[in-house]
Amino acid sequence: MRLCVVFCPARGGFGPGTRQMTGFCPGRWLMLLALRLLFLVPAGEPVGRSESNFPKAMDNVTVRQGENAVLRCSIDSGVTRVAWLNRSSILYAGKDKWSLDPRVVIVTNSQTEYSIQIVGVDVYDEGPYTCSVQTHNHPRTSRVHIIVQVPPKIVNISSSVSVNEGSNVTLMCLAIGRPEPTVTWRHLSPPVAAAGRRGLESQDRRAKQVTVRDFVEDEYFEITGITKKQAGEYECSAYNEVSIADVRKVEVIVNYPPYIPSTKNVGVAVGREGILQCEAAAVPPPDFEWYKEERRLLNGLNGIQIKKNGDRSMLTFFNVSEEDYGNYTCVAVNKLGTSNTSVLLFDRGAVLDGNNSASGGMTASLWLLVILFVHFLFKF
Ligand SMILES: *[C@@H]1O[C@H](CO)[C@@H](O)[C@H](O)[C@H]1NC(C)=O
Ligand SMILES: *[C@@H]1O[C@H](CO)[C@@H](O)[C@H](O)[C@H]1NC(C)=O
Ligand SMILES: *[C@@H]1O[C@H](CO)[C@@H](O)[C@H](O)[C@H]1NC(C)=O
Ligand SMILES: *[C@@H]1O[C@H](CO)[C@@H](O)[C@H](O)[C@H]1NC(C)=O
Ligand SMILES: *[C@@H]1O[C@H](CO)[C@@H](O)[C@H](O)[C@H]1NC(C)=O
Ligand SMILES: *[C@@H]1O[C@H](CO)[C@@H](O)[C@H](O)[C@H]1NC(C)=O
Ligand SMILES: *[C@@H]1O[C@H](CO)[C@@H](O)[C@H](O)[C@H]1NC(C)=O
Ligand SMILES: *[C@@H]1O[C@H](CO)[C@@H](O)[C@H](O)[C@H]1NC(C)=O
Repeated sequence: MRLCVVFCPARGGFGPGTRQMTGFCPGRWLMLLALRLLFLVPAGEPVGRSESNFPKAMDNVTVRQGENAVLRCSIDSGVTRVAWLNRSSILYAGKDKWSLDPRVVIVTNSQTEYSIQIVGVDVYDEGPYTCSVQTHNHPRTSRVHIIVQVPPKIVNISSSVSVNEGSNVTLMCLAIGRPEPTVTWRHLSPPVAAAGRRGLESQDRRAKQVTVRDFVEDEYFEITGITKKQAGEYECSAYNEVSIADVRKVEVIVNYPPYIPSTKNVGVAVGREGILQCEAAAVPPPDFEWYKEERRLLNGLNGIQIKKNGDRSMLTFFNVSEEDYGNYTCVAVNKLGTSNTSVLLFDRGAVLDGNNSASGGMTASLWLLVILFVHFLFKF
């Protein structure tokens, strides 16, 4: 038979005779004193010698913070005195309430059951509770633990940050709960800028999988030498078995100088509309400048229009003339740097006016054949 004693793991009786054997244990002596007060333990009478199976407290009680806990104790008809204790303090003895806590109420006090309820359990109520009875002068106890669960809750999380590429970033997410919640970090989104994403994907085809790689189980998530690809939203989840995870997000903005993935030369016939495009990935978004040789082009002058659309700049010639053909330079600038590229506006020719590039390609191939042929002729 295993009758437990508050605070003390040792089994067996707790009469004065066993004191030297088990050592000093204040909780146990306090309870013994409390039980003596109730005359549940006659002096010198060891506890736990009876063959009866009563009292029988229920299994441990697991309850969520704020809910009610009922502590049940099954007894038999031979029982003369009953009490419920919280550690060493008596909550109820028979029908008499000893606890000053209004949350403690008696539920059942019958021949077979002696139960109390704790209304609105809080974390400090967690611990051992003892049902103590006296049957035919034999005092016995049975112990039950109240285990208090608290849903996970994120109490402090890093605010969104804006850093330069290459910086070290530490994200923090502190959570409370019982049991202690597990905290995980996940990278949600790749960089926001469309051009950036396209450009980066051509560098690394697995760019979309960053979410899978950047998964960390820790309250602190350290990123050393942050890259463009590591920009975006990070999600912190705190979970335990009690309820659904608490989830919060942090945005990490990674600033980097402009990067122009590629540009396309444009062939347009005289008198037609021509549009040169320049796309640059940059955070913060870039400003654009257009040059022809050393000359800066300005919006609205000489029949051109310069329009910015996010990370893209468009240089429009409303009516292309011979003088417009040439080598243009697009310069993208942000606070971290600048980048440039050149784009050609060339004469597609009146014959091929407005037609698809396949025929343009064919003309080029034809010319190549002619040149090769001439070359061939000169060799002989
Ligand atoms: C009751 O809870 C206590 C403390 O958490 C634990 O030591 C004990 O093993 C539990 N008993 C049962 C029957 O689960
Ligand atoms: C149980 O004891 C603990 C520690 O003394 C106390 O904080 C808590 O309020 C008590 N709970 C009840 C229901 O008596
Ligand atoms: C969150 O943590 C930071 C860093 O430890 C601290 O400075 C701040 O005061 C905390 N905020 C709250 C609301 O606890
Ligand atoms: C970032 O962390 C690495 C390794 O911990 C360190 O060597 C480096 O100096 C740090 N860089 C900055 C800018 O603090
Ligand atoms: C384009 O310019 C040429 C020469 O300046 C002019 O003859 C022609 O009418 C213009 N076309 C349009 C559509 O403005
Ligand atoms: C256009 O100009 C740039 C320098 O401004 C030069 O590097 C590039 O080769 C030129 N392109 C052509 C096709 O001439
Ligand atoms: C374009 O970039 C090159 C170096 O990459 C630089 O030498 C040149 O001056 C730049 N051109 C303009 C117009 O900014
Ligand atoms: C280009 O030429 C093809 C036939 O060679 C014709 O079907 C097509 O409509 C032309 N495209 C334009 C834009 O004129």
